[in-house]
Amino acid sequence: MTSNEIRQKFLGFFEKHGHAVIPSASLIPENDPSVLFTTAGMHPLVPYLLGEKHPLGQRLTDVQKCVRTGDIDEVGDYSHHTFFEMLGNWSLGDYFKKEVITWSYEFLTSPEYLGLDKNRIAVSVFEGDVDAPFDSEAYETWKNLGISESRIAKLPKKNNWWGPAGEAGPCGPDTEMFYWVGNPNEVPESFNDDNDLWLEIWNDVFMQYDKSKEGVFTELSQKNIDTGMGLERTLAVVNGLDDNYKTELFWPIIESIENSTGKKYEDEQKAMRIIADHIKASVFILGDNMGVAPSNSGQGYVLRRLIRRAVRYGKQLGMISFTGEVAKVVIEIYKDVYPEVLNNKDFILSNLSQEEEKFEKTLEKGLKEFEKGISPFVLFTTYGFPFEMTKELATEKGIKIDENEFNEEFKKHQELSQTSSAGMFKGGLADAGEETKQLHTATHLLRQALENILGENIIQKGSNINSERLRFDFAFSRKVTDEEKKKVEDLVNQKIKEALPVTRVELSKEEALATGASHTFGDKYGDIVSVYYVGDSRETAFSKEFCGGPHVNNTNELGVFKIVKEEAVSAGVRRIKAVLE
Ligand code: SER
Repeated sequence: MTSNEIRQKFLGFFEKHGHAVIPSASLIPENDPSVLFTTAGMHPLVPYLLGEKHPLGQRLTDVQKCVRTGDIDEVGDYSHHTFFEMLGNWSLGDYFKKEVITWSYEFLTSPEYLGLDKNRIAVSVFEGDVDAPFDSEAYETWKNLGISESRIAKLPKKNNWWGPAGEAGPCGPDTEMFYWVGNPNEVPESFNDDNDLWLEIWNDVFMQYDKSKEGVFTELSQKNIDTGMGLERTLAVVNGLDDNYKTELFWPIIESIENSTGKKYEDEQKAMRIIADHIKASVFILGDNMGVAPSNSGQGYVLRRLIRRAVRYGKQLGMISFTGEVAKVVIEIYKDVYPEVLNNKDFILSNLSQEEEKFEKTLEKGLKEFEKGISPFVLFTTYGFPFEMTKELATEKGIKIDENEFNEEFKKHQELSQTSSAGMFKGGLADAGEETKQLHTATHLLRQALENILGENIIQKGSNINSERLRFDFAFSRKVTDEEKKKVEDLVNQKIKEALPVTRVELSKEEALATGASHTFGDKYGDIVSVYYVGDSRETAFSKEFCGGPHVNNTNELGVFKIVKEEAVSAGVRRIKAVLE
């Protein structure tokens, strides 16, 4: 079975059960301060999980691009990846446990769909604790479907609970589905969580509680279903493969590495897997329509780490200037499903080769100095070696690194990987309070003011909000002058003074496009979209944008708008940071 057949079967199955198919959202979360990347299918849907109405209804299904860096140390084994696709189905206050478990089981085992062997399936359910009771409904549902009790494990929160990653928010028990990937003639009678040959392939989350900051769990009024099935793992098990890298989503990449090094995958598994995984993730981060370039902070820093780590493992195999070639293979695999990687091919390839070159130089110089005896810390601070690499090099040489010196930086690094991997439930503007809503509305005003003052269609390249400031990236080829900045500020402040209402409408995609509302070029949208306009009527509105919200109700809630910085982020992309005072 091909990856495309699985995607189509999955979406088709849930469509048949009344779900609307929604496109994958960007990998770079918009206006969300809590995570660096989209880490799970539920992430872009947080506002709807918290009660906002979705224009396509209460049942949704999708295939979402995800990046997780929390598991980066596990990348190199047969089943963990930095970039992966998550198949999901969603109930926003509609069906619940019985329906979803029954559908999951049917999809996994019916010959019309995945046709997996019923005898190789095991599941786990939440065992119960002081916060929430044993999930007897999930247990009974599995039992009634014919799963033997020895294959239904009752496990604690650590295993069978999802969210919130932050201190508070919606969360709930889940049920996980495992497939025996060992010898089919030796399937153990009972499920054992410690045995890696039981591979988790699907997780159905029952979002039924809200956890307060004080740690109290109360039942949510809108109960949701969030399921996530890893495409790469599913593809491997359906095809009887014991290694995700042997599937069509990876094997051509591995083969190209084999060809260019003359080495065999069997002998160099770890290095080849890491190169394939990291270059693939880099292609998707660079190739996103909100794509970012390597830098020293945020998403750009994660990207830099991925590219540099791939280059270092490439060096181990004797590869030089190779990232572009590997990236081309990745683009070839995905260009039909994710056309953005083809459309952004030049950006992907030029950034990869620049970063590789930069790093080669750094490595050469740094390694020379390191041989001469400079400390790991200098290597890190002066030569810009990534922290992980510095640590790895020091360990290889048996040098103990001075933990105190590194502590500060290390903390920074940890925060970074936490924000990029966890926060799966936190997140979403719905959770982020009044300031972020205000800044979100101010971002819409800013975009339109830039368009009016600079006299060009402003193409958004990224947007990020935390409780203090907004950050807006847009395509523009030169510096914005002080005079222009002043004019932009004045225009935004004038619109704030005019006390314009902010209104959300749901329109068909065609109608929405016809209004001239601003949207991200090249992004896929659902058939019905929500558009926010700022102004007294849709016709006379100052700003119109495709957007999931949320926003303030009136611009008079915004205070005084001030641009604090304007700078370049990469060739042809400018960044504005602004605040409301
Ligand atoms: N949120 C859950 C996960 O990521 C199910 O989609 O596993």
